[in-house]
Amino acid sequence: MTKLSHKKESNWARRGQTAGAWRPLAVAALFAFAGSAGAAKVAAGHVPFRVSSDCQICHGMHGAATDYGVIPKLAGQHKAYIVQQLQQFRDGKRADNNGDVYMLPVAQALTNGQINEVASYFAAQRPRMQSAGVQHAGAAQGKAIFTNGVASEQIPACAECHGANAQGAGTFPDIAGQRYDYIVQQLKYFHNGTRSNQLMNQIAKNITVPQMKAVAAYLSSL
Ligand code: HEC
Ligand code: HEC
Repeated sequence: MTKLSHKKESNWARRGQTAGAWRPLAVAALFAFAGSAGAAKVAAGHVPFRVSSDCQICHGMHGAATDYGVIPKLAGQHKAYIVQQLQQFRDGKRADNNGDVYMLPVAQALTNGQINEVASYFAAQRPRMQSAGVQHAGAAQGKAIFTNGVASEQIPACAECHGANAQGAGTFPDIAGQRYDYIVQQLKYFHNGTRSNQLMNQIAKNITVPQMKAVAAYLSSL
């Protein structure tokens, strides 16, 4: 790990300790709110401690609102996929630059129980991730790549695994309505191998940057 990310890690570790001290207060506040809102709202509105202490800073409280393009939306993402990615960040197996710098320290602070809890929470958020309404050039070409692949360049149809509507299933991620910058960044990571996944490394091997941008334009418009 670089010096920079190591420093970040110790910062996060310290933050984790401080945040722990606030836990009783956060729980008390939650119950005060639940009391006034009525019992039915307790389960639906329950925000896991780690979401309010950590995740919301970057992903937003409901996994939908982030101002920074390379931070993914998590709202409605498949639980199995979220669990698997958090385990990979924690174990240093998703060690692309943004994963290493931002998610490794966060994921290392999570217990298995908390991984399960935050994954259930984000998977259950509605509305699920959706287009921000921003148009990027190349969406029509991107749709063709997504649906048919590019046979001459040995790029398979993305729809084969991600589904006709790009909504995935299980450990195949939902990429419909995901952020444009994030999708381009991940395709670059798969292409250069810093994000390691047997299937996606092979698929992204021949994809060019303009093709990455086109497919991201299409997916982020869904
Ligand atoms: C400091 C900012 C930051 C915080 C805090 C943070 N994340 Fe992230 N998260 C990121 C970034 C940046 C990425 C993209 C990493 C990459 O490019 O590999 C990411 C990626 C993810 C992914 C992968 C999503 C996908 O589509 O592959 C999951 C799951 C995730 N974060 C969950 C969480 C959870 C749960 C928390 C709270 C416990 C959390 N994050 C806290 C910045 C953050
Ligand atoms: C053979 C099955 C398969 C095909 C075909 C496929 N993918 Fe994937 N894709 C996956 C799997 C599995 C993952 C999860 C990888 C991981 O766990 O790190 C993934 C992950 C991704 C991600 C990262 C999503 C996130 O939230 O981080 C993007 C973006 C993506 N694929 C885009 C594409 C595009 C674009 C194509 C077509 C050019 C494509 N995929 C074709 C199986 C496939």
